[in-house]
Amino acid sequence: MYNKLLTRRRTLYLGLGTLAGIGALTTGKFINNFQQNQVLANQDRNFKVAGKIPLKERAARKGLIYGADCNTLNLQSVPELQTALVQECAMLVPGFLKWDMLRPTADSFNLTRGDWYVEFAEKNRMLLRGHTLVWHDALPRWFKETVNKQNAQQFLEQHIQKVAGRYAGKMHSWDVVNEAINVPDGLPNGLRKSPWLDLLGPDYIDLAFRLTAQVDPQAMLVYNDFGLEYDTPKDEAKRTAVLKLLERLKSQGTPVHAFGMQSHLFGDETRFNPQKLRDFFRNVASLGLKILITELDVIDRKLPQDIDVRDRIVAGVYEDYLSAALDEKAVIAVINWGLSDRYTWLSEFYPRSDGAPVRPLPLDANMQRKLAWNAIARAFDNAPKR
Ligand code: G3I
Repeated sequence: MYNKLLTRRRTLYLGLGTLAGIGALTTGKFINNFQQNQVLANQDRNFKVAGKIPLKERAARKGLIYGADCNTLNLQSVPELQTALVQECAMLVPGFLKWDMLRPTADSFNLTRGDWYVEFAEKNRMLLRGHTLVWHDALPRWFKETVNKQNAQQFLEQHIQKVAGRYAGKMHSWDVVNEAINVPDGLPNGLRKSPWLDLLGPDYIDLAFRLTAQVDPQAMLVYNDFGLEYDTPKDEAKRTAVLKLLERLKSQGTPVHAFGMQSHLFGDETRFNPQKLRDFFRNVASLGLKILITELDVIDRKLPQDIDVRDRIVAGVYEDYLSAALDEKAVIAVINWGLSDRYTWLSEFYPRSDGAPVRPLPLDANMQRKLAWNAIARAFDNAPKR
């Protein structure tokens, strides 16, 4: 499927090349943004889908899990999103399971909101994945002045025992450690400068996994990270560092079971190389790890305002990326970071300069399916069975 697409795109490049000098295009350099958007919008891609069955069923037919996050949204107050999630998703990432949402003070936990999500998912027979137990971000205000090298391990143990313990046996998987690699920080092994690294040293990663495995032996334990998707020197360096981290963890017997590839994609990024992605996934899988696409969305900040053009480019990115990713049978799940454009972190973190509402997800603001939904459906329909 992907090769047919590649041929079509090349044809289009050559077509456009007659207008703008073949040499410029065939080397992958676009003459200008308009040129790039016309190529990426690729009018002859039809994104046709057979039938209307939901994404969760298309995924399940291939042995895959499809889901979405409600990371920090208050789902209780949005019944129309509840309906859409139940219809389309087999898995839910509950909101309110980060330190800043769970821990109002150093000696208290607020698990009520997390409990609601778990009950909602169980009532609707949805799988759950927890996000996230150890991260350098989303730490409560009291953390910095309260946690020190002497008590850090105790705080970590207490947090994992309380939170992972409360939902033990209910979680399909946990993002135990999130985003521990950041090569530009210049630290050994590409580790990110993180409060946890400062407080506990590099072994905080192994410790977090071992604690979680003790508390919830049934959960699949995941190392989750981003910025690995493209054929750029920065992403290549990070892929190398992440692979080395996973190799070290496996060689020391750390109970890590899977890698989470966040997959926050960019609609205007042309340096996607499907073979590089497949090679990376194959290398991760060769460690005996499963792979989850954990935070999938397509940032449309730099795309044209025209909704038809923008939706086509976003859909093309979804289908191209998933077509390559799902060739790797170790990939077991695809999770969108949000399901509807009405509720996406990108509205706040990657707003468009023209003020137009962003459109990164499979459902629009009225919970209606978009071309992005078609693209994900087609990727599942054409994926090899696990
Ligand atoms: O809920 C409060 C609200 O009561 C308050 O009025 C408001 C004031 O700004 O803040 C609201 O909380 C915000 C929350 O999102 C809900 O919108 C937090 O300030 C804000 O920091 C939080 O951002 C989340 C971010 O992680 C930090 O936790 C995003 O929604 C969430 O999508 C984003 O997700 C991360 C993953 O966890 C890790 N991978 C990257 C991804 C994107 O950054």
